[in-house]
Amino acid sequence: MLKSKIRTHEEQVEYMSELKDWLQKEHDTPPEKMADFFSSRIDIYDKVHLEHWSKEYEHIGEFFDGNIDTLLDIGCGTGLELNSIYRKYPKIKVTGIDLSEDMLNQLRAKYNNKDINLIADDYFEHSLKKEVYDVALSVQTLHHFKYEKKKKIYGKLFNTIKAGGYYIECDYMASCIEEEQLCLELYEYKHNKFNIPEDEFIHVDIPLTLEHQIELLKSAGFSDVSVLYENGGTKIIRANK
Ligand SMILES: C[S@@+](CC[C@H](N)C(=O)[O-])C[C@H]1O[C@@H](n2cnc3c(N)ncnc32)[C@H](O)[C@@H]1O
Repeated sequence: MLKSKIRTHEEQVEYMSELKDWLQKEHDTPPEKMADFFSSRIDIYDKVHLEHWSKEYEHIGEFFDGNIDTLLDIGCGTGLELNSIYRKYPKIKVTGIDLSEDMLNQLRAKYNNKDINLIADDYFEHSLKKEVYDVALSVQTLHHFKYEKKKKIYGKLFNTIKAGGYYIECDYMASCIEEEQLCLELYEYKHNKFNIPEDEFIHVDIPLTLEHQIELLKSAGFSDVSVLYENGGTKIIRANK
C-alpha cells in the first residue's frame, strides 16, 4: 500500500519558490491545444509519466473496494492507471473517454483482451446515462479546468454512478490558495494574450486546493470526501455517492 508523504514547512517554502520561478519562465510561452499536446508527445508519454508517478500507477487499484463490475475512466489516455485496477478486478468492464485518438489507440493496443469501450470525445459534453457505473475514476486530467467547468463534470459523474458507488480522483492539487491563484492568473493571462476562445481546451495547469475540490464534490451531491493518499501535490481522493 502507498504511504503518504506530506511536505515539511521547509519543503513547502522551497516548492513555492521553485513554482514561482517556473511560472515566470512559462509566462509568455504560447499554450498548446489539449489534444495536440498529448498527440505530439505520444511516443514519450508513458515513459515520462511513469518516471514521475510510477508508484501511484502501480498501486491505485488497491484503493478500490467492493464488488465492481463497471468503471468509467474519464481522460483515460493510454490507460496507465488500468494495469493496477485489472490486477485486482480482471473482469471489470471499463468505459474510457478521451479527447485524443492517439492516446486511445495506445490504450487499445495494451488491453485488447479486455472488455473495454473506448470513446473519443470531450467528457464535458459526452452524454452519460443515469446510474450505470459502479465506480468512476479520473487520473491526472482535471487539473486543466476551472472551478465552474469542474462543477459540471462532477455533477455528471454523480449522476452516472450507481447508488452506493464512488468516485476516485488522482490529480495535481494546489498546496495553498496562493498556488491556485498564481496558476489561474497565468492561465487567464495566456487566454487574453493569445486570444484563446473561452471554450478552447489548452494545456495549462490550474489545480484547485483540496478544500475547493471537496466543496465542488459536495455541491455535486457526493456525501463525503476523503483523502486516501498524498505525495506533495499529487493526491488521491474518494467521494461516495
Ligand atoms: C495527463 S493525461 C492523463 C491520462 C491518464 N489518465 C494517465 O494518468 O496516464 C490527460 C488526458 O486527459 C485527456 N483530456 C483532457 N481534457 C479532456 C476532455 N475535455 N475530454 C476528454 N479527455 C480529455 C487528454 O487527452 C489526456 O489523454
